[in-house]
Amino acid sequence: MTAAAAYNHQVDGTEAQNKAINGLAQEFDVTTERLRTITNQFVEEMRKGLDHEGATVAMIPSYVTGRPTGEEVGRYLALDLGGTNLRVCEFELKGKGDYSVKQQKFVVSDALKTGDMRDLCDYIADSVDTFLTEHCTLPGEGEEKLQLGYTFSFPVLQTEINRGVLKQWTKGFSTKNAVGKDVALTLQEAISRRNLPVNVAAIVNDTVGTLMAYAYSFPDTVMGVILGTGTNASYYEKTANIKKWSPAENDVSAGSDEMVVNMEWGAFDCEREVLPLTMYDNKVNRQSRNIHQQLFEKMISGMYLGEIARNAMLQLIDQYLLFNGESSPALNTQWGFETAYLTAIENDKTADLSETKQILEETVGVASSTTLADRQMVKKIGEFVGRRAARLAASGIGGVMSHCGKVGQESIIAIDGSLFEFYPKFEHHIREGLTELFGQEAANKVRFALARDGSGLGAAIIAMMAHKHGKH
Ligand code: GLC
Repeated sequence: MTAAAAYNHQVDGTEAQNKAINGLAQEFDVTTERLRTITNQFVEEMRKGLDHEGATVAMIPSYVTGRPTGEEVGRYLALDLGGTNLRVCEFELKGKGDYSVKQQKFVVSDALKTGDMRDLCDYIADSVDTFLTEHCTLPGEGEEKLQLGYTFSFPVLQTEINRGVLKQWTKGFSTKNAVGKDVALTLQEAISRRNLPVNVAAIVNDTVGTLMAYAYSFPDTVMGVILGTGTNASYYEKTANIKKWSPAENDVSAGSDEMVVNMEWGAFDCEREVLPLTMYDNKVNRQSRNIHQQLFEKMISGMYLGEIARNAMLQLIDQYLLFNGESSPALNTQWGFETAYLTAIENDKTADLSETKQILEETVGVASSTTLADRQMVKKIGEFVGRRAARLAASGIGGVMSHCGKVGQESIIAIDGSLFEFYPKFEHHIREGLTELFGQEAANKVRFALARDGSGLGAAIIAMMAHKHGKH
């Protein structure tokens, strides 16, 4: 899209409304030039993170070495904590990339997210107990425990495959007595209090799980990316490049030439040097539980897009340019406008945007009867916010590809998360961003693969690999 076309949006409204919407288009645009600047900075930050501890982009060694062969077999448990739900799964790995799974979901209440870590771990252990009772055959007396891969999708500074302390919370969690503590040990203690025959064999970031799950069928997969409630990525790095890392002498990963790195890219540019933050982003940041942290994530991921759009709408309402100047209790409330509404609105193909009307008037409770222009404007805002998120994700993906020397090569990128799966045109916009960065031919060589719920399978595979390497 040319610069002129980018700001030539039309709604069936007044001149002032059209002017406002084009102003927003400009504010939310990430120009090709800016995309390049961000990508270059991203590569620089990756280098810093590999070089020393404490860098903004943490680049955490995951202790996952080697690639799955697809021949892994056995019965493994997986836990998935990190978004809206807690999932407990049992995987039967059958080899040749084949598996079967039993799983159960449990809701993690806001009280648990903000309460004490002991209560959260007790809840998780109770959920494992319920799942085992309802779905599994337990090992008999004297038999080996069940091995569990724990997908814990927050920044954990790992020291072994099943040891690591929580660096900080992200995505709205603020559970107390957790930061600085070992996440596997705390869970293992809760499991042991219940005498469950379960061993926490591995701590797994969801991006690492996603990468491994896809690599189970396609060993050449380059990256695992999450574009969901939060955003992050992992990829295979040469151990020689992870300058800050020196393995303990008896560490099984010591001899490996590559290791998966959990980037924690959501933290990128918390110095606010290159990200094109708008006043709406600043407000989301200011009101968040983790002020000035995860700024890249706050511009990209599903937890925040609705909130950014809500703030943009409020600004228009206060100028009497939207909904006749009337808001609603939901719109006035933090988190009162879900990203899922934007998805539904962008998917509304009716000529009069009647589905949008229903969402705005019935679900969101906008008092006045909305006009077509109102609805078009909201739809446009969703489009701008989503396109910007996808383009920023492209700069992250592009940064990793440049760093790894993968530009121009056939590459598979495994992606999971509700944004990628459901947000209209998300993949299209990522691809467009990559095309601007690297040209059509190179962009065409990248394949994005949806690895739905991959992190559970990945965690089971990693638990298996850890177990095989004799980690108990
Ligand atoms: C947040 C977490 C990160 C996770 C991502 C996606 O950024 O810090 O660990 O991978 O969300 O769930």
